[in-house]
Amino acid sequence: MAGTTTRWEQARAQERAAGRGGYGAHFAQLIDEGADIEGEARLADVLAPRGVRILDAGSGMGRVGGALVGRGHQVVGVDFDLEILDQSRRTYPALPLVESRLDELTPQTLAAAGHPTTYDVVVCVGNVMILLAPDTEPAVLANLAAVLAPEGRMLVGYALTDAPAATSREYPLDEFAADCAAAGLAVESRFAGYDLRPFTDESAFAVHVLRHAPRAG
Ligand SMILES: C[S@@+](CC[C@H](N)C(=O)[O-])C[C@H]1O[C@@H](n2cnc3c(N)ncnc32)[C@H](O)[C@@H]1O
Repeated sequence: MAGTTTRWEQARAQERAAGRGGYGAHFAQLIDEGADIEGEARLADVLAPRGVRILDAGSGMGRVGGALVGRGHQVVGVDFDLEILDQSRRTYPALPLVESRLDELTPQTLAAAGHPTTYDVVVCVGNVMILLAPDTEPAVLANLAAVLAPEGRMLVGYALTDAPAATSREYPLDEFAADCAAAGLAVESRFAGYDLRPFTDESAFAVHVLRHAPRAG
């Protein structure tokens, strides 16, 4: 429930205890090495008309939102981890950030920070959905649906097996689809990766494109 410890915080506590830098250090190193870390952003950019509003939900160290700013979009990142938000500010200073838990995010939170309350594309990638606090997935999907423009699309990707963080949950596809439906969202497409590889029963990763479910009648 809102306010309870997230799987992300559990993972960070384990990493700190083991002296590992984890996600933030990993992506800082990839940037130093000149690696491609923009696959998710490229697909989000394909979903978006030019120069639109994009919400990066669980924006982390900013690699996705920062790349989308670079493609001319009006992006806002939302995250609650102060250390990772600080890394994002240093790495991608042009990416505006809002400090909030996603299970507590409201249009008012965004408006109070001077940002739009609706977005043409909502991005929630990098395993955010399997690192939330237990049982908050439906609330997070509902909160993101509440800021998705009527014709907007949402990009959600997470690992089905072998997730990087040991504390990640398993999130079966049928449960995810049911949580989406409860939030008024419909699964438009499912792929096995951000390069649009076809999804199969063997796929270890799921990339979903969501939109508002059509109103009945
Ligand atoms: C593995 S990182 C991925 C970050 C980014 N999306 C990316 O792909 O680089 C997971 C992120 O989810 C964020 N997160 C997890 N639970 C959250 C919650 N309840 N509210 C806001 N952010 C959350 C963490 O703070 C962390 O930055």
